[in-house]
Amino acid sequence: MTRVLSVASECAPLVKTGGLADVVGALPAALARQGVEMRTLLPYYPAVQSKVTVTGTLFDVADLFGGPARILSATSGALDLILIDAGHLYDRAGSIYIGPDGRDWGDNPERFAALSWVAAKTGAEGAGGWTPEVIHAHDWQAGFVPEYLHMMGATSRVGTILTIHNIAFHGLADPGRLGALRLNRNRYTREGFEFWGRISALKAGLMGADRLTTVSPTYAAELMRDEFGMGLDGVMRLRRDALSGILNGIDEDVWNPATDPAIIPYKSLKEKTVNKQALRTEMGLPDSAGPLCCVVSRLTEQKGLDLLLETLPTLLHRGGQLALLGSGEKWMEDAFRNAARDANVAVKIGYDEGLSHRLIAGSDAILVPSRFEPCGLTQLYGLRYGTIPVVALTGGLADTVIHASPAALGMGVASGIQFSPVTADALRGALVQSCDLYAQPAVWEQMQGNAMRQPVGWGPSAKAYAGLYRDVTKH
Ligand code: ADP
Ligand code: GLC
Repeated sequence: MTRVLSVASECAPLVKTGGLADVVGALPAALARQGVEMRTLLPYYPAVQSKVTVTGTLFDVADLFGGPARILSATSGALDLILIDAGHLYDRAGSIYIGPDGRDWGDNPERFAALSWVAAKTGAEGAGGWTPEVIHAHDWQAGFVPEYLHMMGATSRVGTILTIHNIAFHGLADPGRLGALRLNRNRYTREGFEFWGRISALKAGLMGADRLTTVSPTYAAELMRDEFGMGLDGVMRLRRDALSGILNGIDEDVWNPATDPAIIPYKSLKEKTVNKQALRTEMGLPDSAGPLCCVVSRLTEQKGLDLLLETLPTLLHRGGQLALLGSGEKWMEDAFRNAARDANVAVKIGYDEGLSHRLIAGSDAILVPSRFEPCGLTQLYGLRYGTIPVVALTGGLADTVIHASPAALGMGVASGIQFSPVTADALRGALVQSCDLYAQPAVWEQMQGNAMRQPVGWGPSAKAYAGLYRDVTKH
């Protein structure tokens, strides 16, 4: 058994703002089947407190970046957790990243440096008799793990992997905070964690971890290009030999149309239509001849939904409909609310786990027009539920959908529709193609069947992570 500590700022079903949580929550069970014993280190946010069973105290920290902390062991379902109980850092109402003024909490650098510091301490000294052989850090919030391990003199004992779920978020702080963040000033250089005159938690991880991964092979290649690297493409090129792309899977128990308690469970496409009727009733949509398309997404620049606003008239003109669930940037929320004045558009602004399942089960297609998408999970849910993904040709969206090209249709293997470049014109073309294919029931149903048969679980990717853990283990 390889002992691995997974370190992240979110973990489903305990606390979630996006796909990071789904992945962090699914990894332990997927890897248990590969002989990996994984524990997950997470802040003890208020939202987590009611959902876990605390089993003991592992160690105390007298001063964890400004106050005392207690490191707890806990379980939740099959998850084996280590939690950081530090009220001064995590005991806040509202979002885990954003304060009531809509801006990042001012002390986010310290809040997540503390997460990385406790991870490194656990790696260096163990916790309750358990010492990880490998620390698997996720995104910038765990970026300082290799740095602190280095300062604790433990890099020769503990292997490190950093997974990039989204390179757009760097975890920046002003250099005046070097001391507060307990960082080694000598490493505040271009070869270390300095990034254009600021401290970058992500760069610390990118430079320091033994291996880097990202969540799809295409995104791994994109990261080395300046259009996608967000200023870190040079670092990615420098570390290309350490980098690999391992595609995310989905939790096939949570997302299973045959057993999903949030929907009317179905095994056949005929039964799926009952969910469509129920969804139309729930969302107040009339019957229509064209495809019912859904979106479940954060409403941000990344997701390209401004392009959908622009092209919506084409979809509606062809008899299509839109049902959207999302939240994010205010102007986009308002724009979609406005679009919902059309009878064939239904919009729910907010976060709603149950409705996300009902949308994906009841729709004919799911739209993901992202400008960049490291992996993307909703298109995978769509595949599993026989809901055709209509996606931009980028990142994980490129790796998971078989485009309905004439050749793929001819061979009967298509499972979705891809468009490129990511422009309104190309999306318009994809919507027209969707409506045309939907109007040919035999073709559409064949695509749905292909989608539902496409493997979207963790099998091969869990094997790849397990292999990587063995590679970085230090003895
Ligand atoms: P990202 O992590 O960039 O947001 P992903 O596609 O990887 O994109 O993951 C998004 C996850 O968040 C999915 O599980 C999706 O179902 C969920 N999600 C996004 N927005 C909402 C929402 N408004 N309500 C419920 N679930 C949502
Ligand atoms: C990020 C990415 C998304 C990916 C998720 C899980 O939030 O934006 O594409 O699926 O992480 O890895």
